[in-house]
Amino acid sequence: GFLAGIFSSAQPAIATEAPLSLKIAVLYASQSGTAEGLARKVAKDLKSKGHIASLISLEGYTPAALAEERYAILIASTYGDGDAPDAVKPFYESLCIEHFPRYQDLSYAVLALGDSHYEHFCKFGIDLDNKLDSLGAVRLHDRVDCDVDLDDAFTSWKQGLYSRLESIVSTRPAKNTPSPSAKIIAPTPKTISSETSTSAYTRENPFLAPLVDKHPLTREVSSKLTMHMAFSIADSNLKYEAGDACGVVPQNDDQLVDDIITMLNFSPQAPVQLPKSGTTTLIDALTNHLQITRLTRKMIEAYATIGNCKPLFGLLVPEQQAHLEKYTYDRGLIDLLHDYPGVLHNPADLVAMLPKLAPRLYSISSSPYAHAGEIHTTVAVVRYRSHNRERGGVCSTLLADRTNTGERRAIYIQPNKKFRLPQQSDAPIIMIGPGTGIAPFRAFLHQRRALSATGKNWLFFGERSAATDFLYRDELESMLSDKHLTHLDLAFSRDQDHKVYVQDKMLEQAPRFWSWLQDGASIYVCGDAARMAKDVDATLHSIVAKQGNLDAEAAAEYVQTLKDDHRYHRDVY
Ligand code: 2AM
Repeated sequence: GFLAGIFSSAQPAIATEAPLSLKIAVLYASQSGTAEGLARKVAKDLKSKGHIASLISLEGYTPAALAEERYAILIASTYGDGDAPDAVKPFYESLCIEHFPRYQDLSYAVLALGDSHYEHFCKFGIDLDNKLDSLGAVRLHDRVDCDVDLDDAFTSWKQGLYSRLESIVSTRPAKNTPSPSAKIIAPTPKTISSETSTSAYTRENPFLAPLVDKHPLTREVSSKLTMHMAFSIADSNLKYEAGDACGVVPQNDDQLVDDIITMLNFSPQAPVQLPKSGTTTLIDALTNHLQITRLTRKMIEAYATIGNCKPLFGLLVPEQQAHLEKYTYDRGLIDLLHDYPGVLHNPADLVAMLPKLAPRLYSISSSPYAHAGEIHTTVAVVRYRSHNRERGGVCSTLLADRTNTGERRAIYIQPNKKFRLPQQSDAPIIMIGPGTGIAPFRAFLHQRRALSATGKNWLFFGERSAATDFLYRDELESMLSDKHLTHLDLAFSRDQDHKVYVQDKMLEQAPRFWSWLQDGASIYVCGDAARMAKDVDATLHSIVAKQGNLDAEAAAEYVQTLKDDHRYHRDVY
């Protein structure tokens, strides 16, 4: 009864009568919720298999608590530039201080999540796996590194893990079974999420939302095109909060699909098998289900193997990494087919080598309190020409070129609980969002106004040129003139002969920035991870050091405290 009360889905008899259950901690390091979602599934599976599983966030967790565990499953997202999710950094940093084995009693398995378009793919999961190994823990099951399209990798990893656990249970003497009085970590309140359960629409079952507004935010002569897009969600029960993202299910460009099929001399109507969706036509598979634009190492490996293609194998050796990166940088599948022809002889081989077409996430730029029944996004349209072809981002060109107002697109909400306005409506906030990083801050500003929040608002925005790229200029200037925006600092990088970036503006305002921090301001950063968010972070550290008269170490501690107090949030990509 005692256990059943805590673990509602566990069978009450397990710990006392059945000797065949393990006490397993399912730990996750999540930024946007993906790792948490997978961890929840694993914990549920383990409970249904009769184990005692607890679902725990690594946020606020300690290396000491981990040392108490016998079995730990860790699902770890990599974030930003190969880092741990912000909230998990304290845990990982303290783990790294440990130098001698202390986890000899721990058996563990890591699932690493990441995005192979980034240089440091799955780095945090890899580091965590290696660190635990070096601290004496024993791997239960090999780590798997999952790309954005993670379903298959996740399934095969967890199946391997479950059969490993089964074999442990079946060879384990009964006396080692944890007693009911063993330390039990109750599931954190995070396991019950009202926000994710409010809507029936998900990534797998998206809502077909009509596009109700679409207009450029940049001027025609700009070197960039950024668009405002509004979808109606009036007929759905979709719920979101300022700070969340909107997932858009993409569709490839018909012309590109056609070019690929023609180049290979296949029939568009040829039947093909997809792992999840069953049998369909080649043209449907290439249009709606598979990624046919960018090239990944895995795709090239598969292609080289099918064609036993010597020159391609040459490109795949570790010493040629730089060459491979250069080759894939501005080429796509169609170039591979063109440069190394004669490899594919049937549609099934093509389908088998292509990754699944993954939804794209856009930060929502509206607030449900200010824009009832709508979701707005701020979309940078990716287009470029290379190797004699016009190319474009799958989803941004779908929205910009191939979706008119009145037409519907499949969308869903990706909650981002780590990127929310402060609970206290009178707390000051500092927002740093150059480029499309402005999106959640437009949402924040409208939301605070709609809810009559009295906290001061300070925005740093940057773009190339004021005349052409000042996104949401009218709204921002009117919020500034009626003092809803307390300060608006602008960095137009290409309007003078030297670059001016948002972090330069922060430095100019260092004394004020510091006094806002002293007054309890929260900082939010959104936009480019690789360069901007790094530089902004470094600038924040130097402002704190200089204004607070602190050495580098004390400044880093101050910034860490901001994070611990949930006053420094980043949504960077
Ligand atoms: P640039 O393209 O002129 O270099 C939005 O993309 C804005 O962010 C642009 O003005 C861009 O400037 C700027 N930007 C580029 N690199 C940056 C960095 N490291 N830090 C801050 N802003 C940057």
